[in-house]
Amino acid sequence: MSQLLAISPYLHSTLDLRKLLGIIMNVAVELAAAEDAAVLLLNDATGQLQFEATTRSAISKEVIVPLEASVAGWVVTNGRSLLLNDPAHDPRFTTAVDKELLYELHSLLAVPLHGDMGNRLGALLLLNKKDDGGKNGRCFTKDDQYAVEALTVQAVVAINNARLFAQSDLLAEIIHELKTPMMAISTATGLLLRPDLPSEKHDELLQMIQRESLRLSAMTQDFLDFARLESGRVRLTSKPVDLVALVDEVVDISQPQAATRDIEIQTKLPQINNGLTISGDEVRLKQVLLNLVSNAVKYNNDHGIVTISAKRHGDEVCLSVADNGVGIESQDLAHLFERFYRVPDRERGSEGSGLGLAISKKLVEQHNGRIAVESIPGEGTVFRVHLPLTSKLPASSV
Ligand SMILES: Nc1ncnc2c1ncn2[C@@H]1O[C@H](COP(=O)(O)OP(=O)(O)O)[C@@H](O)[C@H]1O
Ligand SMILES: [Mg+2]
Repeated sequence: MSQLLAISPYLHSTLDLRKLLGIIMNVAVELAAAEDAAVLLLNDATGQLQFEATTRSAISKEVIVPLEASVAGWVVTNGRSLLLNDPAHDPRFTTAVDKELLYELHSLLAVPLHGDMGNRLGALLLLNKKDDGGKNGRCFTKDDQYAVEALTVQAVVAINNARLFAQSDLLAEIIHELKTPMMAISTATGLLLRPDLPSEKHDELLQMIQRESLRLSAMTQDFLDFARLESGRVRLTSKPVDLVALVDEVVDISQPQAATRDIEIQTKLPQINNGLTISGDEVRLKQVLLNLVSNAVKYNNDHGIVTISAKRHGDEVCLSVADNGVGIESQDLAHLFERFYRVPDRERGSEGSGLGLAISKKLVEQHNGRIAVESIPGEGTVFRVHLPLTSKLPASSV
């Protein structure tokens, strides 16, 4: 009880969901003397459970678990805890994910994460009681269960708070970003309605309205994408993707935009295309590459050069997009992948939402990859995307 009281302020010390889940798992592991913990949350869009956090690195995060015929699903559906000290023989262990978990599993304590209004958030799993030499051996006890249940009452409140905060914060920022183009449109239409407006001004204002509304629609698409990624509602599918073909396609799409400013797009690809097929989500990988190339064109000087290259590096591939444009100062580089960050003073001439790189980073990370940037102001910039050859994306049929 005293342990539980002590952690209450601790649980409310962060509104960052990832950090919070980490705290919850660590406390639960302590309370029940478990080896590992995992949190699964219910995805509103798909109605399925998803691993959101785990202390055991062998369990790949973002794995999807169906509600039916899984242990976590049983706990969530029935709103009751499950204490299994011989999980291998429990009929509820049926899914592939359960079987993966079952490996080396000798005891399991699964507790639902339910709000007091009955709203279902997900489940907290504790894996393997530590053998402390006591009479219970490697079995969880009813006392462990009650302690963890008491913890989850507080954990649910904290999780709800973190989620609400994340949403309201993002919404406020999105609305702020929408204001600039909306104000421009409103000012322009106001002027157009004035009877004393000189007729030669009409076209200019109409063009401005068109430009700003196109910008608005591009921004709303980015916002939607980002909000979905942020809330974990994007499901990536895993299929073999030929990166050479992907690069060619991106070049074809980007060429017209580049040509208007006489910018040349070059590619550096291996002569023989072997080993450049990875498993990943083709649509999303194309989105990443397109964003990097469109930036390299957009923030380049007229007559500039953009070079896309793909090569294999051990058990990963590296895609890079280099330009010889304006470059980025180091104080801006540090913030480049943050949402809505645009290099100050440069945004006026070029259109964008400031979300392209934030979205790209999230997508690359969902492929278990990483993205990095190097730049020399006045000389150019290079973005590198490293992707594992075989990614651990959730197959859609676990
Ligand atoms: N290749 C590049 N060269 C110079 N600046 C860049 C480059 N790529 C991105 N940037 C800077 O990073 C910012 C964020 O990029 P991004 O997230 O794609 O947003 P957007 O392109 O919508 O502004 C851009 O506004 C720009 O200032
Ligand atoms: Mg961009």
